[in-house]
Amino acid sequence: MKQIQSTAGFKSEIDKHRGKTIGMVPTMGALHAGHTSLVERSVKENEVTVVSIFVNPTQFNDANDLLKYPRTMKSDLAMLSDILGPDDIVFTPEADDIYSDENIPSIDLGHLDKIMEGKHRPGHFMGVVRIVKILLDLCQPCRAYFGRKDFQQLAVIRTLVRQTGIKTEIIGCPIVREANGLAMSSRNARLSPSMRQKAGIIYHTLKKYHQQTVPFGIKELKKKVREEINSYDRFNVEYFEIVDDNELKELSSVKDIKQGISYTGCIAVHAGEVRLIDNIQFSFLFPKG
Ligand code: PAF
Repeated sequence: MKQIQSTAGFKSEIDKHRGKTIGMVPTMGALHAGHTSLVERSVKENEVTVVSIFVNPTQFNDANDLLKYPRTMKSDLAMLSDILGPDDIVFTPEADDIYSDENIPSIDLGHLDKIMEGKHRPGHFMGVVRIVKILLDLCQPCRAYFGRKDFQQLAVIRTLVRQTGIKTEIIGCPIVREANGLAMSSRNARLSPSMRQKAGIIYHTLKKYHQQTVPFGIKELKKKVREEINSYDRFNVEYFEIVDDNELKELSSVKDIKQGISYTGCIAVHAGEVRLIDNIQFSFLFPKG
């Protein structure tokens, strides 16, 4: 694999591969098994794979979060060298360089920017859209791979691609979990060993409630999930919503549930100092008669 830092160097290298299938895995580094599953899939499905590692400052609405974001370039490169082949590229740009030539895209995220992550992290998705647009424009991959852990981000990136006419196919990949069920995340490295172990309760609580027989109350269901997680010391639910997979409209009443539509329960939890997100598919069983 080749590591390239400058955008000019990256452009000239990737241009040598035009005509081949190119897969891209954008990351912010601190790689874990969730990332490597995306990279392995790209390697399997494409002739050339590009992994970008860039802790994108424009998507952090909290300066402290940006400061504390884990940076592990050396071990990231070692991990990638086990998977990538000689033609594959690891792109590790600097902020001044990658943002030097940018036309900020005018994307209307509408409702997506006002709920859940959009509501609680103002400006976050515009930062994601800016960097992903730059990366996809530079690389022009056939396919780009993103984890389903960032469920709302995936919807945002699909909106970006639809509104700008970018030709890349956006592929959402399954969540990879630690042995206790905790969704893999670069942020997990910031949890103490005991909090990391306890954080498995987020997934276990989602799993406990993810199949529901109608009728029941949506408000009561959401309250139960929140209360159960909040009952653990230093765990605090920021939001828990159940949204439909098409438009990510928040479900507020049983009346609005449509059969044949998939729903996802999305949660953000503060585990001590560390903010974690997760999601699970919800299914609603309608009793016959
Ligand atoms: O999911 C991430 O790691 C980031 O949001 C992304 C897509 C690499 C953009 O910085």
